Amino acid sequence: MCGIAGYIGKNQASNFLLDALKRLEYRGYDSAGMAVLNGENNLNYLKSLGRINELEEKMKKIELNGCLGIAHTRWATHGHPSEANAHPHSDCDENIFVVHNGIIENYKILKEDLIKKGHLFKSDTDTEVIAHLIEEHFKGNLEEALLSALKLVEGAYALAVISKDDPEKIVVAKKSSPLVICIGKDENFIASDSSAIAGYADKVIYLDDGELGIITKDDYRIISIANNNKIQKEHCNIDSDVADLQKNGHKYFMLKEIFESPEVIKNSTRGRIIPEKGLVKLGGLEVLDQEKLRNIKRIILIACGTASFAAMVGEYMIEEYAGIPVEVELGSEFRYRKPIIDSQTAIIAVSQSGETADTLASLEEARRKGALTLGIVNVVGSTISRETEAGVYNHAGPEIAVASTKAFISQMTVFALLSVYFGRIKEMSLTMGKRITEEIEKMPCLIEEVLKNDEQIKNIAREYSKYRNFLFMGRKYNYPIAEEGALKLKEVAYHIHAEGYAGGEMKHGPIAMIDENFPCLFIIPSDSVYEKMWSNMEEVKARNGKIIAIATEGNKEIKNIADDVIYIPKTLEMLTPILSAIPLHLFSVYMGMELGCDVDKPRNLAKSVTVE
Ligand code: M6R
Repeated sequence: MCGIAGYIGKNQASNFLLDALKRLEYRGYDSAGMAVLNGENNLNYLKSLGRINELEEKMKKIELNGCLGIAHTRWATHGHPSEANAHPHSDCDENIFVVHNGIIENYKILKEDLIKKGHLFKSDTDTEVIAHLIEEHFKGNLEEALLSALKLVEGAYALAVISKDDPEKIVVAKKSSPLVICIGKDENFIASDSSAIAGYADKVIYLDDGELGIITKDDYRIISIANNNKIQKEHCNIDSDVADLQKNGHKYFMLKEIFESPEVIKNSTRGRIIPEKGLVKLGGLEVLDQEKLRNIKRIILIACGTASFAAMVGEYMIEEYAGIPVEVELGSEFRYRKPIIDSQTAIIAVSQSGETADTLASLEEARRKGALTLGIVNVVGSTISRETEAGVYNHAGPEIAVASTKAFISQMTVFALLSVYFGRIKEMSLTMGKRITEEIEKMPCLIEEVLKNDEQIKNIAREYSKYRNFLFMGRKYNYPIAEEGALKLKEVAYHIHAEGYAGGEMKHGPIAMIDENFPCLFIIPSDSVYEKMWSNMEEVKARNGKIIAIATEGNKEIKNIADDVIYIPKTLEMLTPILSAIPLHLFSVYMGMELGCDVDKPRNLAKSVTVE
């Protein structure tokens, strides 16, 4: 989704702004722009369609001098991608410039009204109404004008506004879209997330909904949009390291992040498992009344996309090992249903970014209905992490590639931890607790083994890149992995159509598609449903379908039926998805590369979907 950056201080604003835009690229965008105010009170701006380097090229020809500026990467919602629709947007006289992430739902009515009052619009965006509304209410003070404008606006926004008629400040506001302020020395920064600011200063302030900030070179003030009262905010440490934001020799962030999986598991489990006692310690849940936790009768996992597949794995784990009924709900569906929730229901929002609009809205709905709200979130300080009563951080580090990989591995790992945590509170034996925690401890080494198949997977991708349709099949713990494998292939190698199915469902429809041009990817570890999956493979072979199998090391018979086999080490059935996901993630990257796709920033996709 759109990315926002802003700078006010002693240095050239454009240097930081350009760097921040590059760091925000991962959020997904189709155009970019920047506006800078200089000491002579000139407000200059540049916009470009396409990648940030297009904007950078323009900046070489037309310099944007000045120590105060705002910038934006746009992911089109209202109005097609074009320079005219790129941000910043301005008022009629180009005195006021605005960047915005979110959707102004009532923009049409506002726009009609403003046009009647004589305002001239230059874009098709919802955002432009804000610039004209501020112009309409401006009497020399930018924050007062913005406050008046916001009283009329419905929808979601993270906003940053500058004006040459009130030149020594950036005014920001937030409702349902993320925004952070970063405090430096004689300079201050704003951005959509802290990854854009890491390395520039150490402390951030997370703006909450309903707050407006006035940021000057050496000070800041936060007030309530509702009543103008001053709000004291906590300063938090920035979680990201600049080194985390580099590719470390990999061609793509996605590859780097897949290869980080062993480290990610170490970080997600560090200090959390006590194998000799068969226990899991989750500090984030200790703040809760333990009796309330013990009395949970039902868990609802809310997530979108890849996080929802991790949640499905979590459902199987928690039901089998902790004996608590679990349901997985898509945030986009749950928020519009009439869910049955009570105080013995725990809602766990699962989200890498912690900003997914549908997941967040579902969480709020569940809280209103009295559920205990928890989160499994990667981005520290994100909205979901702040809106939940307690939770577990993934500690997977910044995930820059749009396609989620290492966060998915971490989410499944955290679910394995949770099933032992809840299991041991309930009826799980010491022996079982020990078995699972000991095996979780081995996972980083087992993933290292899987990653050694990298070259083989690259070759398989080369061989199969001529096909345009794929069916992914798995059963029980690996059914969600079939879904994930298909989603990842569609995302990253976007000329290919893929579907993920539960093996048992094959005869209920998808088998009709199978022929020599429709390869099937079977996830078939040596587990409790191995024979069932074998029958599915026989059915595909009988129809001349090509088969790639992900199987357990040592399984020789699989070579008699599958055209290609990728081996994963043996582990507990519940943990096989953590291993089987890795070859599928690698397969997607290499297929995307074969097809010349933009692997890290696939077309049309945004990293975090912060609007509906
Ligand atoms: O940040 P979240 O985990 O809440 O994001 C959820 C989905 O938008 C995300 O997993 C999406 O499906 C990814 N592009 C998958 O690679």
